[in-house]
Amino acid sequence: MIGVFDSGSGGLTVLEALVEALPDESFLYLGDHARAPYGERDNAEIVAYTTEAIDFLMRSGCRLVVIACNTAASVALRTIQQTWLPLHHPRNRVLGVLVPMVEALAGVPWHREVPHEDDILLFPRVVLFGTTKTIESRAYLEEVNKRAPGCDIVQQACPGLAGMIEDGASETELLDVVSKRVAAALEGHMGFVPDAAVLGCTHYPLVRHLFAYCLPEETRILSQPDLVADALSDYLRRRPEFSDAGQGGRTVRYLTTGDPAHLRGLAVFMQNLHGQFTRVRL
Ligand code: DGL
Repeated sequence: MIGVFDSGSGGLTVLEALVEALPDESFLYLGDHARAPYGERDNAEIVAYTTEAIDFLMRSGCRLVVIACNTAASVALRTIQQTWLPLHHPRNRVLGVLVPMVEALAGVPWHREVPHEDDILLFPRVVLFGTTKTIESRAYLEEVNKRAPGCDIVQQACPGLAGMIEDGASETELLDVVSKRVAAALEGHMGFVPDAAVLGCTHYPLVRHLFAYCLPEETRILSQPDLVADALSDYLRRRPEFSDAGQGGRTVRYLTTGDPAHLRGLAVFMQNLHGQFTRVRL
């Protein structure tokens, strides 16, 4: 069983892609709705809450956990992988949404931490949208530039946008925010058209059409859920010990730290998923 963690409902955009791409795998989703959003919290809190949630999922039987929240992955993934996991669950693994996106932008595998002379720069100019915390962490910027120093990334925080999507804001309200953030990001590239755009927050795929409308036609929007699904499929092929394939009868279950009757934005995120949330204490 694979654990999928998010601060709230947003990670369901990632789960949906995983459920579709991996029909033999069982998933246990945990949303920390009681403490969401993480996007404006301080780093120590994000690391502590994310660690607690992963520990819970692992104690519930998940040997592999995907952090489906960009904020949590940007701030906590390295610390958890390097210091917490080897001490507490040394045989288990934690993956984060950040990794496949960095690989796609840099055009090299995650383990290649230094550029090679013959590397080809796939996306010379990139715009990255995320929560305030994801942008402040500079995790995408640093991880991509380590591997592809020529990649010019303009980062743009979109404070409040994730909350508006959860609250079911109107298209007009959302378009107003998205157009302002896109305009600011484009200014950062001083009139040059970006080659790629990263919607670096679990909620933004739901307003992808608005980003597409505001961005230049030539800018390619990279789909995080699809990249994560491809990366996880590839990982499970290489590490079958973390896969349920062949065991039959897959399950997809949903847990929350919040009140299942009052989860923000659930209807928006559950359109293509089925199941009820159960409340848990971490
Ligand atoms: N899931 C978060 C992310 O991808 C957004 C919501 C939050 O701020 O907690 O960054």
